[in-house]
Amino acid sequence: MRKPLIAGNWKMHKTLAEARELVNSIRDGLRDDAHVDVLICPPFQLLAPMAKAVEGSRIMLGAQNAHEASHGAFTGEVSVPMLADAGCTHVIIGHSERRHIFGETGSLLAKKVRAVIGGGLEVVYCIGETLEQREAGRTQAVVEQQITEVIGKDIAPDRLTVAYEPVWAIGTGRNATPEQAQEVHALVRSKLAAMYDRAAADSIRILYGGSVKPNNAEALLAQPDVDGALVGGACLVAADFLAIIAAAGSVVTAAR
Ligand code: PGA
Repeated sequence: MRKPLIAGNWKMHKTLAEARELVNSIRDGLRDDAHVDVLICPPFQLLAPMAKAVEGSRIMLGAQNAHEASHGAFTGEVSVPMLADAGCTHVIIGHSERRHIFGETGSLLAKKVRAVIGGGLEVVYCIGETLEQREAGRTQAVVEQQITEVIGKDIAPDRLTVAYEPVWAIGTGRNATPEQAQEVHALVRSKLAAMYDRAAADSIRILYGGSVKPNNAEALLAQPDVDGALVGGACLVAADFLAIIAAAGSVVTAAR
């Protein structure tokens, strides 16, 4: 059985003082539940202090983006070796805001994914269709393309997590139904099985993201191919993030 991962994408939120308060509350409220992995992804300026703040806990640290080169004249960018140096173990690549607001393309994301893995970190690779694409019946084609243009057999499956985040569900309060999520997750897994093999596909975690909240987390996480959540808005409130982690714990307990 895949261990669920609950990841918080802080996006462009929190000063240092606010971050300390949030992370301390998460630490204090985290039950001794070893059945769920927990990852926080604060903005760049908080990574080093948050690495200190999570020391000795089981909270892992990730970044929200990385440049594809290791160093160089790239004003305003941050590289994978720098993220590793700051204490990160994970990097989110291809978030829909990076694709749609900052114009990141499949060929760029393919380089970024390889930079993350080459730098010894794990990647959380985001995919998902827009509302127009869903309504045009193109969900399957879109997510398959997002996988094949970026992921390949050279990507070690044990370094890869996929996050399915329908764009229409991100920050809208309109989550995919558990059935909608399961349908796409199963499709993603079969695509991964075709690319690697069944055992590898069964080992890769596929997270759902898009308006995950305490009141819908358990039903989403109970789906057989939903292996965790990438949480935006709700991860900025300790009680909500903890409730989502607890929901993942209940799903694991119920399945035993
Ligand atoms: P949301 O964001 O939970 O606020 O919808 C999810 C995400 O963008 O990862």
